[in-house]
Amino acid sequence: MSVNIAVLGAQWGDEGKGKIVDMLTPHFSAVARYQGGHNAGHTVYVKGTKFVLHLIPSGILHPGVTCIIGNGVVVDPQALFKEVDELARMGVNVDGRLLISEKAHVILPYHRELDVLSEARRGERKIGTTSRGIGPAYEDKIGRRGIRMCDLLGDRDALAQAVRENVHARNQIIKESTLDWKPLFDQLVTYGERLRPWVGDASLFLARLRDDDRNVMYEGAQATLLDIDHGTYPFVTSSNASIGGVCTGLGVPPSAIDGVLGVAKAYTTRVGEGPLPTELSGDLAERLREGGQEYGASTGRPRRCGWYDAVVVRYSARINGLDAIALTKLDVLDGLPEVRICTGYRTSKGVLTEFPADLRPLGTAEPVYETLPGWTGATRGATRFAALPSEAQRYIKRLEEVSGVPCAIISTGSDRGETIVRDDTIIQSWFSKQLA
Ligand code: GDP
Ligand code: IMO
Ligand code: MG
Repeated sequence: MSVNIAVLGAQWGDEGKGKIVDMLTPHFSAVARYQGGHNAGHTVYVKGTKFVLHLIPSGILHPGVTCIIGNGVVVDPQALFKEVDELARMGVNVDGRLLISEKAHVILPYHRELDVLSEARRGERKIGTTSRGIGPAYEDKIGRRGIRMCDLLGDRDALAQAVRENVHARNQIIKESTLDWKPLFDQLVTYGERLRPWVGDASLFLARLRDDDRNVMYEGAQATLLDIDHGTYPFVTSSNASIGGVCTGLGVPPSAIDGVLGVAKAYTTRVGEGPLPTELSGDLAERLREGGQEYGASTGRPRRCGWYDAVVVRYSARINGLDAIALTKLDVLDGLPEVRICTGYRTSKGVLTEFPADLRPLGTAEPVYETLPGWTGATRGATRFAALPSEAQRYIKRLEEVSGVPCAIISTGSDRGETIVRDDTIIQSWFSKQLA
């Protein structure tokens, strides 16, 4: 029997998905990304060496594990080659274990330009995108004019026509633009040749793994509150980062999802614009930012920091059907005199306890907090729950109660080994199912 688990972000991204995926990978034959693009930055430390993955799933550091980039991902070939070359330089070879869906859409150079122009046009109301061309690439996909991996490898005349039409349409949108289609076409043909050995039918490959009783992990990028449908629209990314994206972004049926693990930080961060109800300023924000090294893995931007928001995680639990949480960066709270958990938002119309669709009330809302004592001992590097200071244990228990999901994994540092996997949680049953 194969066990297929989704690991996805329960807040606004950068929860530590990369670390959790890497640390769980020994249980799986393959790790598959289902959405997003190189807007993601997943950091993994292996014995002090830092790897930052953008497009390639975070399982790649384990030899023998196949890494899949699904049809729901948008791929910038240049960014992919850069990542592959960087991994090779660090001793990680992807050949023979990277599979890119032939249906994945391609990010073209002008998508990046359109991303920047669109942000400039929004002015004060900008999203704060990563300027990687993600949104415009998904726009072309939904507009049914996108160019897919299989188009780069197929009939040249058909590709030439598609590029010509796309460039023409773009030149009409950007009035001063006189982009020539031919150099772009030539570039795409060259890219296609390098991509060819990696491109194939990812959905079929995944089905065969299931038939062979092999386990697969589905790796999310971004997070539920950045999801195009369920996030803080319009301050979101352009894909379904939440659980629905697994089926559409990989071509797997819902029956091939056996469990959902949400990754959440022991506090909250966000990079880019949009509401962050528990956002802190001043010394405390600085303390979390420095303690957690909260700077974007892709863009280097400082992340906004705030207390743990249980309204957000409870919402994520509902949208994704979370079976468990992997709680990360607990160690960053070490030494704080008190810690807080947000349980609602006080607005002029009363206290909101469900995350609203209309973001306006959040602008003036005051978070409702429960305050708990902090801990003086260190959680850093702990590998057993019982070894945590009692106040830290109490914080986690309360956080589970108000979020409505058990914390099955607790991360206490950035390295693989700095992790608590709790007994008697669903995690154990997922993997013992297979051993049985
Ligand atoms: P992702 O996008 O969800 O994979 O997360 P990022 O890699 O963008 O950001 C998470 C950051 O926190 C990375 O620098 C990780 O190395 C680091 N990290 C992950 N887990 C822990 C933890 O438990 N403690 C500490 N101190 N750092 C962690
Ligand atoms: P990982 O996978 C955090 C944010 C951007 C911006 C919004 C839209 O590392 O958690 P986009 O370029 O996607 O159109 O930007 O989404 N964003 C992320 N924030 N972590 C990420 O990825 C993100 N990917 C995009 O900052 O607010
Ligand atoms: Mg990240």
